[in-house]
Amino acid sequence: VPVGFPLRDWIDGHAAAPHNLARSGMGPGLSTVRAALAEPLPEADPLALRDELARTIGVVPERVFLHHGASEANGSVLFFLHHEAVRARRARPTVVTETPEYPPLGDLARWVGFRPAAGRATVRIVSDPHNPTGQRRGTEAWRGLVGSARATLVDETFREFRDVPSRATSDTRRVWATGTFTKAYGADAIRVGWAVVPSAAIGPYSEFHGLAYNDVAAHSVAAARALLRRRRRILEESRAIFERNLTLVRRRLPEVPRLDAPVLLDRAPAWPDGDRFARALLARGVLVSPGAFFGAPDAVRICLTQKSFAEDFEAYLAVRGPAPPAE
Ligand SMILES: Cc1ncc(COP(=O)(O)O)c(C=O)c1O
Repeated sequence: VPVGFPLRDWIDGHAAAPHNLARSGMGPGLSTVRAALAEPLPEADPLALRDELARTIGVVPERVFLHHGASEANGSVLFFLHHEAVRARRARPTVVTETPEYPPLGDLARWVGFRPAAGRATVRIVSDPHNPTGQRRGTEAWRGLVGSARATLVDETFREFRDVPSRATSDTRRVWATGTFTKAYGADAIRVGWAVVPSAAIGPYSEFHGLAYNDVAAHSVAAARALLRRRRRILEESRAIFERNLTLVRRRLPEVPRLDAPVLLDRAPAWPDGDRFARALLARGVLVSPGAFFGAPDAVRICLTQKSFAEDFEAYLAVRGPAPPAE
């Protein structure tokens, strides 16, 4: 019986593999996070956390809403947008997603009731930086994207791996942005994320959020504040690990571009079938995510988040090799 969604079940179900290249967050290994949480925690004040988060994002605090992770924030925003569109009597609200894309984004939208469409839509959803390709869109591509829908939900789960502004800072009307402490901060355990909503939606979203989500646990609020207090050094540590791993990858696979997030969609010339490749890797103790989960069946996704990456990547390359092993 699945406990999460298929990609998550795959990653969690094989987490014991000796070479784990499937973790897209930094995980519990950051020493700066351990140090930040070992200090006396700040007061568990959700409004203070909201203000501090808003300052790091660069938006007014009223636009920021706390959630239990980006997953919940995405679900909540989509549910809200669907409700608003139906209330405005839009026949059947439509959604456009990318391929490849982080799978729950499109699945969630369809589940909520959006009809997949091409062209102009009620809602456009993107992860940016993009999971699974690790790249952030350029300004022109971004403008085109926002211009093609009434509202854009941008999942900025990986934004903090580079020093780049939130998309919510440049558009206060159509952009809904979500974020989390689970990736660059490696703080899975506290389950804190957020949504930044357009200025005009503050009132109605606040009403819905208050009814549906109420408060984030006090301990999580205090811990999130502790992480923001040490934000600079935590992000320095996670960015340094990412950068070092990226240098290793680009030395061995020179065609890989500079990435903005620690995820890479790799198409191995010798392995045109990503599922077969992933299973062959697993048989050698290397865990990756089959690209099929993201809509890219000819690829696998590897993550550049772990301190053990150098060894894990060598084990990966040993299978990736110039030619597939004989059947
Ligand atoms: C694009 C994207 N959004 C959301 C999430 C989940 O974030 P959270 O753990 O904060 O719910 C992930 C996790 O891999 C992700 O890659």
